[in-house]
Amino acid sequence: MERLLDVKGVYFGYNKKYVLEDVNLTVFRGDFLGIVGPNGSAKSTLIKIILGILKPQRGTVVLLNSPIERFNQWDRIGYISQRVRNFNPAFPATVEEIVGANLYSQMGVFKFFNKEHKTKIKEALDVVNMSDYQDHLIGNLSGGEQQKVFIARTLISNPEIIFMDEPLVGVDVQSQEQFYGLMEKLNKELGITLVMVSHDIGVITDKANRVACVGNRKVCVHPSTDFNKEEHIRDVYGEDLSILHHKH
Ligand SMILES: Nc1ncnc2c1ncn2[C@@H]1O[C@H](COP(=O)(O)OP(=O)(O)OP(=O)(O)O)[C@@H](O)[C@H]1O
Ligand SMILES: [Mg+2]
Repeated sequence: MERLLDVKGVYFGYNKKYVLEDVNLTVFRGDFLGIVGPNGSAKSTLIKIILGILKPQRGTVVLLNSPIERFNQWDRIGYISQRVRNFNPAFPATVEEIVGANLYSQMGVFKFFNKEHKTKIKEALDVVNMSDYQDHLIGNLSGGEQQKVFIARTLISNPEIIFMDEPLVGVDVQSQEQFYGLMEKLNKELGITLVMVSHDIGVITDKANRVACVGNRKVCVHPSTDFNKEEHIRDVYGEDLSILHHKH
């Protein structure tokens, strides 16, 4: 199996106090890896280390066969951060402009979308079922629709692996089901490797093929079929299961 990501012996702390210790994690091509763990357990931190946004005090990250310090093939990677939707809702951009934003680097001096760009944008919006919204202002869309637009924006460069940090916060149950249908399509039909942070242990362990549990500064990885939800919840959340229902 081809390894797309190798994290080895990573230690990381913000202020000398480690929030992650001796983290080892491998992602293979075709994986759908779910990352679970309580608030503040360093899930977002882990994603940022993987993407080179934060530098570990010890250990190594190898992404698509390149040490992260030297990694430069960003068009092969998609990233939807936890804060992506905290933008000004009055931002006067259309769906087409948002999705096409990643194409600007390929344009000449005159920044306009040519026919080929428009086709690409339409294709990406088709995957997420949003092509009817091409000319709508992003601020007028619902949260779930905006989420799909950001996924389309990620898809436009044909990434091989997409990292998503809690993409489903604030998305209703029906849209969540659509979202997981879409993830299945990306993963199974388009062969895109997915890494997704989620608080919904019940659902993510169903959809993902492997699960990484972050807690007590450690990360452990299991095939999702072996993942014991109750045991995990007791281990990292303590006995008080009510915490799961009061997260957001
Ligand atoms: N820039 C920072 N400076 C100092 N401490 C930080 C910083 N960012 C995060 N932390 C701390 O590091 C720990 C891990 O934070 P992180 O955001 O990675 O957690 P998380 O697992 O993603 O939580 P959540 O489920 O709430 O998103 C937390 O205790 C947090 O307060
Ligand atoms: Mg987080």
